[in-house]
Amino acid sequence: MAHIALVTGGIGGIGTAICVRLAREGRTVIANCHPSEVEAAESWQQARAAEGLTIPVIAADVASFADCARMVREIEAQFGPVDILVNCAGITRDKTFKKMEPSHWEAVINVNLNSVFNVTRQVWEGMLERGFGRIINISSVNGQRGQFGQANYAAAKAGMHGFTMSLAQEGAAKGVTVNTVSPGYIETAMTLAMDEGVRNSIINGIPMRRMGRPEEVAAAVAFLASDESAYITGANLQINGGLFMH
Ligand code: CAA
Repeated sequence: MAHIALVTGGIGGIGTAICVRLAREGRTVIANCHPSEVEAAESWQQARAAEGLTIPVIAADVASFADCARMVREIEAQFGPVDILVNCAGITRDKTFKKMEPSHWEAVINVNLNSVFNVTRQVWEGMLERGFGRIINISSVNGQRGQFGQANYAAAKAGMHGFTMSLAQEGAAKGVTVNTVSPGYIETAMTLAMDEGVRNSIINGIPMRRMGRPEEVAAAVAFLASDESAYITGANLQINGGLFMH
């Protein structure tokens, strides 16, 4: 079961919990970070070491196909082929649509959606050839229901699940499963960056009246990465405290 897992956006709020969870299960976990985060990644690694975990970090811009190709070739050379890919890298550029500039649109589509092509394309053929693979795409409740101020983000996150359902069909007969996880509002820097008043009104609208914890997302990812989930593919698992029921 010592599969090799790559987690993009691995040093972020949800990414960290996923890395920690998979590593505690005995997997070899490689965390991807953006090239601008290399310094932060060093203290991140020290924090993981203090928890008894060794998690290598590799910097690459997931918005760049060429950089993703380089990253995955380096991982393969050093650790072996990637069996589990968690596409978790994501950003927000929240704006009402009348204020949304092309740069806000492009940044979010490139990092949140094009990245899924850029990284998955590097590992896909190997998974098919080996007859095993797990792809888990971290989407969002707002890709399922839309959100005021997030036309770019919701479009990218909804697109991820279209990608999931298509690849799930291509991988199904080859032992490769592809699933989406759609978290609701989770306690991370991304949700903390929201205006406090907006955040509180969102929390009031969540049936559980609280935000989720990154570990609650990581537990679902660990299940979808496991051998036990072999018959689940093309699913969209929502983890949102009842905010949206599909
Ligand atoms: N529904 C309807 N109207 C709304 C509204 C809503 N949800 N929210 C704001 N408005 C209205 C305001 O009442 C105001 O109306 P008036 O002009 O009539 O007074 C108007 O919209 C404000 O428009 P502005 O263009 O001036 O907006 P702003 O610049 O003040 O704020 C925003 C825009 C930054 C997008 C803000 O609405 C916001 O933060 N929204 C929340 C976005 C959000 O949920 N982001 C999630 C981040 S976390 C994440 O993305 C993780 C995940 O997957 C869940």
